Amino acid sequence: MEIFIDSADRDEVRRAAALGWVDGVTTNPTLLARAGVSMREAIAEIAALVPGPVSAEVLADDTEGMVAEGKKLAAIAPNVVVKIPLTEAGLAAVRALATAKIATNVTLCFSTVQALLAAKAGATYVSPFVGRLDDAGHDGMALVEEIVAVFRTYDRTTRVLAASIRHPAHVRRAALCGAHAVTAPLAVLERLCHHPMTDVGLARFAADAAAAGLTTDG
Ligand code: G3P
Repeated sequence: MEIFIDSADRDEVRRAAALGWVDGVTTNPTLLARAGVSMREAIAEIAALVPGPVSAEVLADDTEGMVAEGKKLAAIAPNVVVKIPLTEAGLAAVRALATAKIATNVTLCFSTVQALLAAKAGATYVSPFVGRLDDAGHDGMALVEEIVAVFRTYDRTTRVLAASIRHPAHVRRAALCGAHAVTAPLAVLERLCHHPMTDVGLARFAADAAAAGLTTDG
């Protein structure tokens, strides 16, 4: 399962890349606005920090505009994936970009049928928004599970990217159901590694080694 950081903050992306197990980055207009730098500059710098995909979202809302912006974004770096909203115009843009061999991430997906259409349009990734569904009283991860099952049934190659991830239990369920990727903020990624029993076990090993005077040299 690919693990991405959901951020447009270059320092955060640097810290995530240093963890050693983060594959790529997703951004969105809100995150880029918060970062306070030009979009092209931010995407170019971020794309140089990670080897894997970096999603950059179009701002146009018509097919022609999305395709034009998508081509420009894709030209910034070879690992840029063009993020397209799950609208009628967006899916037509996904088809045009797929024909031009440009990778896409269809965002703002809130239903299984929407995801199926994204796959049929030729999307590389589709991003169901788990946390926002949970916030609205639904079970966001159930949508991810359903999409994974439907894609398996119809042998679709589009990758399911669980987005709007809020805590490690979301990541666990994404892995259990076979989601291809998750994207989460740095604070969530940093929590994935930790377990209190690891800390307790490590403290015990350190204490026992110190008491016995153990060293790796002798
Ligand atoms: O980048 C898309 C998605 O991950 C946004 O998450 O937390 O704003 O719902 P959130």
